Amino acid sequence: MSLQNLSAFPRLDLIGAPTPLEYLPRLSDHVGRDIYIKRDDVTPLAMGGNKLRKLEFLAADALRSGADVLLTAGAIQSNHVRQTAAVAAKLGLKSMALLENPIHTRAENYLSNGNRLLLDLFDTEVIAVDALHDPQAQLLEQAERLEAQGFRPYIIPVGGSNALGALGYVECAQEIAHQSEGAVDFAAVVVASGSAGTHAGLAVGLEQLLPDTELVGVTVSRKAAEQAPKVHSLQQAVATSLSLTAQAPITLWDEYFAPQYGMPNDAGQETIKLLARLEGILLDPVYSGKAMAGLLDGIVQQRFRREGPILFVHTGGAPALFAYHLMC
Ligand SMILES: Cc1ncc(COP(=O)(O)O)c(C=O)c1O
Repeated sequence: MSLQNLSAFPRLDLIGAPTPLEYLPRLSDHVGRDIYIKRDDVTPLAMGGNKLRKLEFLAADALRSGADVLLTAGAIQSNHVRQTAAVAAKLGLKSMALLENPIHTRAENYLSNGNRLLLDLFDTEVIAVDALHDPQAQLLEQAERLEAQGFRPYIIPVGGSNALGALGYVECAQEIAHQSEGAVDFAAVVVASGSAGTHAGLAVGLEQLLPDTELVGVTVSRKAAEQAPKVHSLQQAVATSLSLTAQAPITLWDEYFAPQYGMPNDAGQETIKLLARLEGILLDPVYSGKAMAGLLDGIVQQRFRREGPILFVHTGGAPALFAYHLMC
């Protein structure tokens, strides 16, 4: 199978080289199963993370359209907004973000440290909103205001998750296939599933390249019944844009994100400590800590379809460690 149409899409090279794919020997010993990690937490701009892959395609499109502002939205501690702001700075564009406080906290660190602090460094114009109840409509309204002032805004949806942005994770699937070829046969790939672009792009790419590898999305924002249609429709849109069909089932585990999006839980915090102490790797309390907690519990509960090594796609998020009070 091939993904030959992927190269037809304009892409800015923001990442430069494949991210490392590493074996985690001490964690593997600890859990009695081989665990590998795809280090998308160390993509090279502004403390890294998964959004740079999406932004390679989205920012290329923004430049092609003559935009001078990247406009997006997310939580105050959004990693996506931070990476979008960094890309705007790198390209000499203005950045603007609509930010909500989804956990209604007044904790000083949440409001001004971590990702939020970095937005000020990037000189992002921040507009606080009560809630992102209809983000696309809210972004459009803001774009109209900017246009009236003479700007040419480019809207990047929440999480960079549209069919174009998700191509970044088709590309990641391609890297995984190349890096593991002849070396390791992954039984499963596990990733956090939020705005769904990462999950959907991987689903399309892995179906083509590693069809015997199960893909598990651990939800970080909503129950599987709500998340499944989001991932599925994006999977279909990505496949269509590449002239492919996508039939791989979407697997979602939704037992690991309680109490809600953006609020840490005990299993996630224990997992953050475990990875830090066994491997020197930083997870985060909102996405990767919960997703890795799901992976580890999935081993204990024998939830994976087959035996064999498991790959965790580390999507980043460590700047949020400075925004939360974690029990160490
Ligand atoms: C660190 C981190 N991991 C995972 C995700 C989820 O990725 P997606 O929104 O593509 O589902 C995000 C999204 O913001 C993130 O910041």
